[in-house]
Amino acid sequence: MTSAKIGVVTVSDRASRGEYEDLGGPAIADYLNEVLTSPWQSVPRVISDDQSLIESTLKELCDDEGCCLVVTTGGTGPARRDVTPEATEAVSEKMMHGFGELMRKVSLEKVPTAILSRQTACIRGNSLIVNLPGKPKAISECLDAVFPAIPYCIDLIEGPRLTTNESRFVAFRPKGA
Ligand code: MTE
Repeated sequence: MTSAKIGVVTVSDRASRGEYEDLGGPAIADYLNEVLTSPWQSVPRVISDDQSLIESTLKELCDDEGCCLVVTTGGTGPARRDVTPEATEAVSEKMMHGFGELMRKVSLEKVPTAILSRQTACIRGNSLIVNLPGKPKAISECLDAVFPAIPYCIDLIEGPRLTTNESRFVAFRPKGA
């Protein structure tokens, strides 16, 4: 079985300059290692909050690397340099608004500032791009909510068949899928 490529993109001016350690990217990789039972490989990137760089990185991971899933962390808030959702929308072929809606709903049960995240998701070609906030603890809080729908979403865009650790959660696929 060929291993699925998954892009893991940390968007942070300070992490990209080495001013602090990237905690978000490794937290996403740990999460995927815990949850996925099908073979996968991480394609990691740590980049600054620069919209054209975020766009070119997303395009490279989707179009050239062939990642079926690209997860970003950071740059979703209201600050001037927060432009990850704009970059995501700029490379999108189809916006997937339900991801942002559900992640904000579950995050709001944890922190009142959840509404400050403009995190979203989209389809580009055979890839699903999902934005997460920059706080490492937001990663599992958000992915636990949306991950059950991700394997079937990737089936629908003709990506590899992802399987999950059912003791963690059961990926939902309609009967016969
Ligand atoms: N969502 C979860 N689950 N947990 C969090 O701690 N932090 C919020 C919000 N969403 C948070 C969260 C805060 S404080 C901000 S400013 C926004 O995400 C945007 O974060 P970002 O700019 O680092 O992406």
